[in-house]
Amino acid sequence: MNDNSKPSSGNVIWHQGRTTNDARRHSLAQNPMTVWLTGLSGSGKSTVAYDLEYELIQRGYKAFVLDGDNVRHGLCRDLGFSAVERTENIRRVAEVARLMNDSGLVVISAFISPYERDREEARQVIGDSDYFEVHLSAPLSVCASRDPKGLYEKARQGRIPDFTGISAPYEIPSNPAIRLDTGELDRQKCIDLLLEKLIPVIRY
Ligand code: ADX
Repeated sequence: MNDNSKPSSGNVIWHQGRTTNDARRHSLAQNPMTVWLTGLSGSGKSTVAYDLEYELIQRGYKAFVLDGDNVRHGLCRDLGFSAVERTENIRRVAEVARLMNDSGLVVISAFISPYERDREEARQVIGDSDYFEVHLSAPLSVCASRDPKGLYEKARQGRIPDFTGISAPYEIPSNPAIRLDTGELDRQKCIDLLLEKLIPVIRY
């Protein structure tokens, strides 16, 4: 793979548009942000992401969810779950999130994103001031007992290789903007806590 900040050819030249991100911000009357949800499978990332999207839209914000399982049906359908492929998954998603932020949108991403290094890379691509990391910290025991998709059971039987929490690692974020224990807090409480922190930073 190439240097991740340069195109593969020196003959590819950046074209500057006529408008600016500030003008887009102004026209949408919001500060774009990527709300980066990270946590184990079954920790509630998709539920929180779509609840948050709904609540933001209700309040007049323009927001859109990038969800791991959904993105793996299209943009990332060629990728599996080795460490290298997860890194590429997160790299692509971070680039898409950044483009969407440039367009003025609030992005809510829901990916396990188990590696600290990949999340830090995403933070750099998106820009520190536009990256709002949320750790859904329900413990493995809770996620595995909920097992909404039956995947932990399969992984324990050895039918899913490299399964996060069972046969692949999850590195706990050291300094998220907010940590939500989705094993303890109910659904509405999670959204309330999130909105309380997020609204002040996206309000224009
Ligand atoms: S990530 O690690 O690259 O960020 P991502 O969030 O895109 O993962 O995809 C995780 C989803 O893929 C899980 O919610 C689960 O439904 C499914 N999945 C299939 N195989 C695995 C696996 N080996 N480890 C984790 N999730 C898996």
